[in-house]
Amino acid sequence: MTSTPFDLHGKVALVSGASRGIGASVATLLAAHGAHVIASSRKAESCQATVDAIRAAGGSAQALACHIGEMAQIEATFAAIAAEHGRLDILVNNAAANPYFGPIVDTDPAAFQKTVDVNVRGYFFMSSHAARLMARHGGGAIVNVASVNAVVPGEGQGIYSITKAAIVGMTKAFARECAPQNVRVNAILPGLTDTRFAAPLVHDPTILSRALAHIPMGRVAAPDEIAAAVLYLASPGASYTTGTCLGVDGGYLVA
Ligand SMILES: NC(=O)c1ccc[n+]([C@@H]2O[C@H](COP(=O)([O-])OP(=O)(O)OC[C@H]3O[C@@H](n4cnc5c(N)ncnc54)[C@H](OP(=O)(O)O)[C@@H]3O)[C@@H](O)[C@H]2O)c1
Repeated sequence: MTSTPFDLHGKVALVSGASRGIGASVATLLAAHGAHVIASSRKAESCQATVDAIRAAGGSAQALACHIGEMAQIEATFAAIAAEHGRLDILVNNAAANPYFGPIVDTDPAAFQKTVDVNVRGYFFMSSHAARLMARHGGGAIVNVASVNAVVPGEGQGIYSITKAAIVGMTKAFARECAPQNVRVNAILPGLTDTRFAAPLVHDPTILSRALAHIPMGRVAAPDEIAAAVLYLASPGASYTTGTCLGVDGGYLVA
């Protein structure tokens, strides 16, 4: 077999939010390039379809439950990975919460807390556990799924956008401090992508046409188009790239 810059054979990858949407596409693509994928979401059963599809295509995967808003579950996840595999080469922080749509000034404190717990504390401690484990065997790659809303706040999505901006800062802070251990940390900023998460926007013709007016490519993304960017940043092909935040947005951020 010819090795390519995107070859992930021998690597163990943890993908949060892998039961559907972008996370399922990422899990499938990483496995197709040879990684053993630990597909994770709040319920292991929800990830079984992703795991089954990977195995049916000849890849290697397992399902593991981890609610990233729960610190004890994050700790248990990394203890289980260390015990079973003794290594982690790739972490894709993808699962996120967006429970509140509405005026920022009316944000419900419980929704605020949930969004911060999942999107900021969850990404942070997944990253710190992963980076420590990666450092034990010579390094690895973390890819954080942020959003274009890190740069341009979504209307009615104030606290969500704020947490995505925090992920950009987190990416740079981890990248700087973990580089000496050969742990690379990058982020992608997806634009509007056709998943359940974005269904209220993508499937409402009025909202969709308003959104498309700001996207130079004039269409939303398919989850596989986002996954390809994650593959690049997770792979040896990005061996000299750390701390970058890559827009995958049909040109939205230049418009
Ligand atoms: N779709 C877009 O337009 C868009 C645009 C920019 C950025 N993004 C970002 O892309 C990422 C994936 O979004 P998506 O559109 O693929 O969403 P999605 O289709 O709704 O999938 C979300 C995934 O996260 C899991 N999940 C939710 N809460 C979780 C938690 N607390 N702990 C662990 N897993 C959890 C869900 O599985 P379970 O329900 O089984 O737990 C599911 O697998 C998110 O970070 C989102 O902010 C999306």
